[in-house]
Amino acid sequence: MATWSKAASSSSLIILAIFLLSLAGVAHGRSSRRLVRSYDEPCMEMRLYLHDILYDYSNSTSNSTSAAATRPTALSTAAPSAPAGGTFFGQVVVFNDPVTEGRRALPPALEETEVRAQGLYFYNGKEAYNAWFAFSVVFNSTARRGTLNLMGADIIAEKTRDVSVVGGTGDFFMARGVATLRTDAVEGFTYFRLQMDIKLYECYV
Ligand SMILES: *[C@@H]1O[C@H](CO)[C@@H](O)[C@H](O)[C@H]1NC(C)=O
Ligand SMILES: *[C@@H]1O[C@H](CO)[C@@H](O)[C@H](O)[C@H]1NC(C)=O
Ligand SMILES: *[C@@H]1O[C@H](CO)[C@@H](O)[C@H](O)[C@H]1NC(C)=O
Repeated sequence: MATWSKAASSSSLIILAIFLLSLAGVAHGRSSRRLVRSYDEPCMEMRLYLHDILYDYSNSTSNSTSAAATRPTALSTAAPSAPAGGTFFGQVVVFNDPVTEGRRALPPALEETEVRAQGLYFYNGKEAYNAWFAFSVVFNSTARRGTLNLMGADIIAEKTRDVSVVGGTGDFFMARGVATLRTDAVEGFTYFRLQMDIKLYECYV
C-alpha cells in the first residue's frame, strides 16, 4: 500500500511539473522555444541601417525624425569646451528613426518602415565630440515582432564602436549580444546614417 501511494504521488508530481512547464511555454507565446547560448558563435546576426534626420530649427518639421531637446547650460558653453559640430556638453537628442535592412541613400518615410529605432543620444564630451546612446530597435513586420534594447558609449572618434544589446522582447525574448556601429554617411548636421551589425550570443528561439 505504501509503495503504491509513493508511486502515485511521484507520478502526480510529474504531471504537475509537465503542466507547469506547459503554462510557462504559453506565457512566452510559444511552447517549443529554447535558450541558445554560445559566446564563440552568434545565434543570430543582422545588419541594419539607422537614418537620423535631425530637426534643423526651420519651420519645416515634416521630415525630421529627431530633435535636440535641451538648451545649453553654463558648463556646456564654458571655454575651452564647446565641442565640434554645433553640439554641446549635455545636449540630448530624442529620436524615432526609420531603420532599413539594406543601405538606402534616401530614408523611407517613418510610416512605411517596419523597423524603427526609438530612444535618445546625448553628447557627453566636455572638450571632445563624444556621445552615448540608449534606444530600442522596434520590429513590427510579419517576419519579426518585438524589441532589442541597445545602450553604450558611442566614441565618435573611433571608426567602429561596440554597444551592448542588453535585452529584448517578443521574438527577441531575453536576447543579449553586441552591436557594432559605424557611421555610414553624414550630410551636414541634419542627417546621418548608422550601420548596425547586431550579433546576439543569447537567443531564445
Ligand atoms: C517660422 O515661422 C514664423 C511665423 O510663421 C516666422 O516668423 C519665422 O521667420 C519662421 N522661421 C523660419 C526659420 O523660417
Ligand atoms: C522631405 O523629403 C522628401 C523626400 O525625401 C523631399 O522631397 C522633401 O523635399 C523633403 N521636405 C523637406 C521640407 O525637407
Ligand atoms: C504594426 O504593423 C501593423 C500591420 O502593418 C499596423 O497595423 C500597426 O499599426 C503597426 N504598429 C506600429 C506600432 O507601428
